[in-house]
Amino acid sequence: MHGRICLITGTASGMGKIAARELAKQGAVVIGVDNDASAGRASRDEIATLAGHANVEFLETDISDFGQVRRLAERVRATFGKLHVLICNAGLVDPVYRANPEGFEIHLATHHLGHFLLANLLTETMAVSSPARMIFICSDAHKAGPGIDWDDMDCARVWAGRPLNNRGAFIAYHRAKLAMIYTAYEFAERLMDKGVTVNAVSPGYFVGTNIYRNMRGLFGLGCRILKPFFTDPERAAQTYVYLAASPDVAGVTGKYWEYCKQKASSSLSHDLEQRRRCWAWSEAAVGLD
Ligand SMILES: NC(=O)c1ccc[n+]([C@@H]2O[C@H](COP(=O)([O-])OP(=O)(O)OC[C@H]3O[C@@H](n4cnc5c(N)ncnc54)[C@H](OP(=O)(O)O)[C@@H]3O)[C@@H](O)[C@H]2O)c1
Repeated sequence: MHGRICLITGTASGMGKIAARELAKQGAVVIGVDNDASAGRASRDEIATLAGHANVEFLETDISDFGQVRRLAERVRATFGKLHVLICNAGLVDPVYRANPEGFEIHLATHHLGHFLLANLLTETMAVSSPARMIFICSDAHKAGPGIDWDDMDCARVWAGRPLNNRGAFIAYHRAKLAMIYTAYEFAERLMDKGVTVNAVSPGYFVGTNIYRNMRGLFGLGCRILKPFFTDPERAAQTYVYLAASPDVAGVTGKYWEYCKQKASSSLSHDLEQRRRCWAWSEAAVGLD
């Protein structure tokens, strides 16, 4: 990975931080991104020390904020000029209803729309850097629901009358992850002849990171008690590193992975009409021509 430039979102903690560390240890230039500036910088310093080189950057960015995503893409283009690996990983689960500055529900804005915009803005940079690899960190949670509700994209009906609602978080999360898989499959097809592979990942079930820290009630309590028994994030993050760096997957595109193995995504994720509709809706939402 020497000289390969890798951008990873959500590197202040969890699997994004582990993947950043492992890729830096393999000699890659790592650009870490997170909205938590102090934890993001601390993570950068820790990774640089462990990797034994200073090619580890941190760029503070809130991925749910389209203006900040545009500035991030511009800065990557201007400073680095090339990009070989993009890992769209930043994410959250939050039972409190929130929206991004443009008014989009926060799970959709963070997991899907922010990454959709970032990947689109960096596509040309990745194409001129080819071979390059785009990786979307999704979840098997995309299977646990009826799909996208085009009449309730801001999840207003889901949270109606209950601004603090675990169920709302799960439905919004499910939809956002499904939208990410549509994006990965659509990108895979569009970038087929540009030397950029695109894959989607399920890191596994209940990985012991910070992601469930906002959950309330019995579910929140259960997560806090059972966290020591959850899947080891080091194991879950191996799939990130495998897809970013392994020669075994050179040229492999449009697949869904878990624990470094291909697996099936839901039949709904292969619905071409839904996929195209999601792409067109997302382009309009983020203001892409
Ligand atoms: N853990 C699981 O069981 C599991 C299962 C399936 C899929 N996943 C997916 O794996 C990915 C990584 O999650 P993780 O488990 O490693 O959780 P994590 O430890 O909470 O890491 C996620 C990172 O993303 C950051 N982030 C959140 N919102 C952001 C934003 N708007 N802009 C920039 N950075 C932001 C978080 O910062 P803050 O701390 O400031 O929020 C955090 O540093 C997520 O996409 C998640 O959906 C996780």
